[in-house]
Amino acid sequence: MNLKDASLNEIPGLAWSMLADGAARGRAPFHTPVLASAGPDARTVVLRVADRATRTVVCHTDQRSPKVAALAKHDAVVWVFYDPDAKVQVRLLGQVTLHHGDEIAAARWDASRPGSRRCYQNPLAPGADVDMPESALPNPDRDGYLNFTVVRCTVDVMDWLYLHALGHRRARFTWHDGDWRGTWIAP
Ligand SMILES: Cc1cc2nc3c(=O)[nH]c(=O)nc-3n(C[C@H](O)[C@H](O)[C@H](O)COP(=O)(O)O)c2cc1C
Repeated sequence: MNLKDASLNEIPGLAWSMLADGAARGRAPFHTPVLASAGPDARTVVLRVADRATRTVVCHTDQRSPKVAALAKHDAVVWVFYDPDAKVQVRLLGQVTLHHGDEIAAARWDASRPGSRRCYQNPLAPGADVDMPESALPNPDRDGYLNFTVVRCTVDVMDWLYLHALGHRRARFTWHDGDWRGTWIAP
């Protein structure tokens, strides 16, 4: 589809298919968004799930990381995605819930690859002081699941920006009465 011709009604579907591709493919441009939280604070994460039906996006993190304590206090977040080939930025605003040791965490852990699980076997908490980088390697004897946390976000607002030489196009969508209600706005 030519994004320049996309109608307001078509944009949420386009955005969710780009997000689904980001969750499914390691090389997809939407695979590594920036997740911003109160603080102010922000970091790159891996997009693990993007589900249009439930308006959810998911990443995984370490229960001991500073972001988990911050998100427990203040659950409002912004996700920023950019596809340089499509020239599309998508920003998602929503609220997160944290899942540690529950059914949602167990299901995501079961779906994780061994290489991803290794990160959670580190004896040190993310952000801990170390004398040298080699002191912070994972220990295969540790149970990574104890540190594994799922950050699950329900999206309320979607901001779409498409860059084009003949004029950028931007739209903002709010979830209202079971549907995305959108308006064009100035880029
Ligand atoms: C490409 C890339 C992907 C990353 N994915 C994740 C991730 O999925 N979850 C995560 O907690 N940190 C991830 N990180 C590390 C974070 O950016 C960050 O450095 C770390 O989580 C500590 O953040 P905090 O101090 O805000 O808790 C990733 C970093 C990069 C560069």
